[in-house]
Amino acid sequence: MNAPATPAVTTSPAPMAGAEAGFGIYVHWPFCRAKCPYCDFNSHVRAGVDQARWRRALLAELDHYAAETSGRPVTSVFFGGGTPSLMAPETVTAVIARIGEHWSLADDVEITLEANPTSVEAASFAAFRAAGVSRVSLGVQALDDGVLSFLGRQHSAREALAAVDFARTHFPRWSFDLIYARPGQTVAAWRAELARALAEGAAHLSLYQLTIEEGTVFHGAWRRGELLPPAEARAADLFEATQDAMGEAGLPAYEISNHARAGEECRHNLTYWRYGDYVGIGPGAHGRLSLRADDGTVRKIATRQHRAPDAWLAGVEAAGHATRARDKIDASARLAELVMMGLRLREGISRAAFQRELGLEPEAALPAASLSLLIDGAFLELDEAALRATDAGRLCLDALLGRLLA
Ligand SMILES: C[S@@+](CC[C@H](N)C(=O)[O-])C[C@H]1O[C@@H](n2cnc3c(N)ncnc32)[C@H](O)[C@@H]1O
Ligand code: SF4
Repeated sequence: MNAPATPAVTTSPAPMAGAEAGFGIYVHWPFCRAKCPYCDFNSHVRAGVDQARWRRALLAELDHYAAETSGRPVTSVFFGGGTPSLMAPETVTAVIARIGEHWSLADDVEITLEANPTSVEAASFAAFRAAGVSRVSLGVQALDDGVLSFLGRQHSAREALAAVDFARTHFPRWSFDLIYARPGQTVAAWRAELARALAEGAAHLSLYQLTIEEGTVFHGAWRRGELLPPAEARAADLFEATQDAMGEAGLPAYEISNHARAGEECRHNLTYWRYGDYVGIGPGAHGRLSLRADDGTVRKIATRQHRAPDAWLAGVEAAGHATRARDKIDASARLAELVMMGLRLREGISRAAFQRELGLEPEAALPAASLSLLIDGAFLELDEAALRATDAGRLCLDALLGRLLA
């Protein structure tokens, strides 16, 4: 698993790294105040976290990855979790400063921090802004107290809306998340909740359908028949109602679950979906790096850090980083990743991205029979600029990908 599969690399930026896709840095903070019953993210509840020790470790991993990728302009930084709004502001400040020392920060760099909308966390907003955070993404999840308690959240709808208000005051850009397709949710109730959310005037909203993830409390309840998610037809109606309401409000989906006014898309997530490069530090973080080898070839590698917080911390303190896997991405995996990420986007995958990643046009990279079948069925479109999934294609993306990448 730990096999370093790449030859020696130079520290100069790779020419084929795809500047148009951006270059991001992801920082994972794995702690939460409570574990939500639906969540399978790498998040853990701890009585006390030694902030200074964690700060040193995060900085050490930044130093480690900077050795391979320094000099590239960073277009985005994302503090994700877990609950990064529980980080000491000093840690956020130190991480951003160290990124600026190792790399260069693009003039319009986007620095996002995920925050839970409780008053305790909102109290740190001014300090996060002073640290350089320019965008917050709040996990509101629902605007109904009964639903929030069902979702195991630590905040009320009122508190969440107060945090939204606070975010609006402190940050130039802000967004919030809602979870829909909840048990018993009707289209009418969801439309009303969405209208309430839109009244806040956000330029970006993430709207996720509730997924029952294995290993969660909800999964156990679902297996015992105690939790019934909406039937497929109801879920499809809810999805369609979401697309309609958001389109009418001027925030169409730019990705399956993400909606924004033009220009307000999350640039960091766009880098993932455009299959750009990013460094991932912190427990369980993933990275994708295009590195130039001594022979001049550019290789793309996938990195993954130790997932368990204690193993990660011990690894960093012993070796300066806790990389658990570092693998070369071969051509077929590269095609699969490019397509799986890019077809999530309404804009699709540019021909330039196919050329950059594979040196091929989409017609040559993909199986001709499947491609024409999916185009004839109006699930895919291919023109002189890009390959993209149609609205119908994005609705059944898993099946489409199964056919295209079989
Ligand atoms: C890393 S999580 C949350 C960040 C932050 N800790 C919070 O809870 O507000 C990012 C988002 O994923 C969504 N999410 C997590 N688990 C989900 C699930 N099982 N189904 C649907 N959405 C989910 C939630 O909307 C959540 O805000
Ligand atoms: S949803 Fe957010 S707060 Fe809840 S356990 Fe997951 S990461 Fe933590």
